[in-house]
Amino acid sequence: MTDTLFRWDDSFLIGIKELDHEHKILIEDINKLHEKLAGSDEMSEIRKCLGDICARMQAHFALEEHVMKEHDYEFFDEHKREHDEFLEDYTEYMMRFLNAPSISLKNPIEECLRQWVVGHIATSDKKMSLIFQEEHS
Ligand SMILES: [Fe+2]
Ligand SMILES: [Fe+2]
Repeated sequence: MTDTLFRWDDSFLIGIKELDHEHKILIEDINKLHEKLAGSDEMSEIRKCLGDICARMQAHFALEEHVMKEHDYEFFDEHKREHDEFLEDYTEYMMRFLNAPSISLKNPIEECLRQWVVGHIATSDKKMSLIFQEEHS
């Protein structure tokens, strides 16, 4: 049995139901990938996990950007830039893995995902949600 990369807890909640739900599923996907990367000879499953995360992430960012637009969010551009940079980095690692599977890509892939969870959900997404809540108070 392998350890979990991210243990979901309520500190990840930002207070917007549909986005919290997607964050939770994405963190589950990332943990699943972590388990597959720690296992052996499961390359097809690793590929599938990488692709699933990429597709889900794209859909998640699109939804979040839609919500930001609806609120006319003043930090939209910088928030979207973080999404774009993240997707670019992740896609690059994913493509490198798909072209030439190597376990040496495990750390950079996981670090990239960690940056998104710790450095984006817990900061930028939370800031966005707090500003939306202030609008309604
Ligand atoms: Fe998000
Ligand atoms: Fe975001």
